[in-house]
Amino acid sequence: MKRRNFLKNSSAAAAGLISTSVIAAGDKKNRSEIDTAKTTQTTTPIVIATWDVSNATAKAWEVLRKGGVALDAVEQGVMVEEADVENQTVGKGGRPDREGRVTLDACIMDKDSNCGAVLCMQNISHPISVARKVMEDTPHVMLAGLGAEQFAYEKGFKKEDLLTEKSKKEWLEWKKTSKYQPVINIENHDTIGMLAIDKNGDIAGACTTSGMAYKISGRVGDSPIIGAGLFIDNQVGGATATGVGEEVVRTVGSFLIVELMRQGKTPQQACEEGVNRIIEKNRGKLNFQIGFIAVNKKGETGGYCIQPGFSYRTYNKDGHINTPSKSHIKA
Ligand code: GLY
Repeated sequence: MKRRNFLKNSSAAAAGLISTSVIAAGDKKNRSEIDTAKTTQTTTPIVIATWDVSNATAKAWEVLRKGGVALDAVEQGVMVEEADVENQTVGKGGRPDREGRVTLDACIMDKDSNCGAVLCMQNISHPISVARKVMEDTPHVMLAGLGAEQFAYEKGFKKEDLLTEKSKKEWLEWKKTSKYQPVINIENHDTIGMLAIDKNGDIAGACTTSGMAYKISGRVGDSPIIGAGLFIDNQVGGATATGVGEEVVRTVGSFLIVELMRQGKTPQQACEEGVNRIIEKNRGKLNFQIGFIAVNKKGETGGYCIQPGFSYRTYNKDGHINTPSKSHIKA
């Protein structure tokens, strides 16, 4: 099911009216929908991603199945979404800031705790690959704005207009009122975060977004911030986030979840405690969405969110599964 359709149907899914979909591994043509209560994967290699991004997880799985490393799997996996102009929250086609500029954020982290990020970068459709170049070819972790863009050109990336006609039309419509009112689960914040474990048992993660639609120029959320939008510890596991980035930054959410797993919590328990920390700080004003996913070294997975409507997709040798996330607020 495409992510957009899932979102439209999210309340029905959360109410249990739509079964979790399972697509037999390696059998994309003969998809079968079967009921399953399975929410935990225990076999590596494995990939897990925020939202029902089946094309992205299929790409990452293809890399892992052929024996590729987790770092390549997560980069190539999220690139699928960055290239999809129908996805208006990531890469080319993303919704612009309030001045009409599409600015992208991304970060990547590998098994050795190497990491790279780009913030508020324009005109380059694959920020995740620029983030990887920052990690591999510079002594730095983060490059921002024009510096990141200039670095990308030096590395051979092509300049592209990222504002599609569809996103431009919607932005011009928004400008008539300029009302800044993020809405839950209608693709305003659905960042793609992806975690993978390869055949060697090594973990990597990637996170990419066009950020909050019609944001103040220069605004950056959690997605390119190591520890907030993404964190990997190869001894323990990984976590990544989607939703209102400001809230994730305040609790250094992904780092927190990995540390909770280090202390013995399962990925599910750690995601629930990570979300609960945010809830504690926002008592009485939970009108926003946060979703976390996590995987531990054994390949066990978990996910949790504030509002119903979030889901995550996993792929391992047992199947390609979209799991509606448990949520603090029930449908
Ligand atoms: N989580 C994406 C953002 O807040 O920009």
